Amino acid sequence: MKKILITGGAGYIGSHTCVELLNAGRDLVIIDNFSNSKPEVLDNIRKITGKDFVFYEMDYSDRDKLQKVFEENDIDSVINFAGYKAVGESVEKPIEYYTNNVSGALVLLDTMRKYNVKKFVFSSSATVYGDPEVVPITEDAKVGGTTNPYGTTKYVIELILKDLYKSDNTWDIVILRYFNPVGAHESGLIGENPQGIPNNLMPYIAQVASGKLEKLSVFGNDYDTKDGTGVRDYIHVVDLAKGHVRAIEKADKEGNGLYIYNLGTGVGYSVLDMVNAFEKANNIEVPYKIAPRRAGDIATCYADPTKAENEIGFKAEKNLEDMCKDTWNFQKKLIK
Ligand code: UFG
Repeated sequence: MKKILITGGAGYIGSHTCVELLNAGRDLVIIDNFSNSKPEVLDNIRKITGKDFVFYEMDYSDRDKLQKVFEENDIDSVINFAGYKAVGESVEKPIEYYTNNVSGALVLLDTMRKYNVKKFVFSSSATVYGDPEVVPITEDAKVGGTTNPYGTTKYVIELILKDLYKSDNTWDIVILRYFNPVGAHESGLIGENPQGIPNNLMPYIAQVASGKLEKLSVFGNDYDTKDGTGVRDYIHVVDLAKGHVRAIEKADKEGNGLYIYNLGTGVGYSVLDMVNAFEKANNIEVPYKIAPRRAGDIATCYADPTKAENEIGFKAEKNLEDMCKDTWNFQKKLIK
């Protein structure tokens, strides 16, 4: 039976995607080095789905071990989630970010080529659009102009994939540009559990609600938006995970190509919208204060999700209340 190789499958988006792929009846080989995840996640994927998979604890950029994985399994496609993703940390540690994200992807692609596996789905980010000239953002908008090494690694890997496809058009490459993934599996068994103080809004809100952190700092209320706070396209991680099932189906179909899709909802919510929605959905207070703008932030970013709907039949189904309830459900289980 043909298997999909998932790198970084114990991570936040990786684990939710593994669940949706297993539910869709796919066979998986997962690799992870647990650099930003925990081994229990794997048991929880098994619990949720009642299904098993092959697992290797290893670094995805370890060429020898990776070759062994391809030799021991009948792999026919790869989804790459193995990447560092903290914007601030990437500014402090550019060499680590370029090495892990870019060199790692090159080792993976080179190994795929060696074993004649040419279906690849890549986790990219709306960050490649930089500060967009127009919203909603379509896939043909200008890319580049990233403001931190993390974002630049995503942009550079996209360039590499485009050159690779140009050199050999028998590849099937799907680049998915995620907007702002939030929420958790409704079981509360998997979700986002950042180490240290969270950088992202939703985990921060959840930790304020739980009392672990005192107050949310709202970074700026003088942007050119409806209430002055930053507007983003928050997408439930389970919807995002389902987008990968569609992407793999696209890569499986006859006819090779390189395809790029936004994965978002098409709706923008402000920071204060998120705070209010979280309080209402969970009947809990989230104290906040207005703080200065955060360096590198933009005012507004949301997707035009039409292309993914038309070409791969992907449409986000969960709403803001689901995102807030599922985030809190997972956070509450962490406290216990
Ligand atoms: N925000 C706060 N307080 C916080 C954290 C965030 O006010 O403590 C605000 C930000 O200023 C922004 C919004 O909440 O307006 C969302 O911030 P996040 O950090 O959650 O998300 P970003 O949009 O800044 O970044 C996310 C991902 C990146 C990705 C980027 C663009 O974290 O990986 O989207 O796609 F690059």
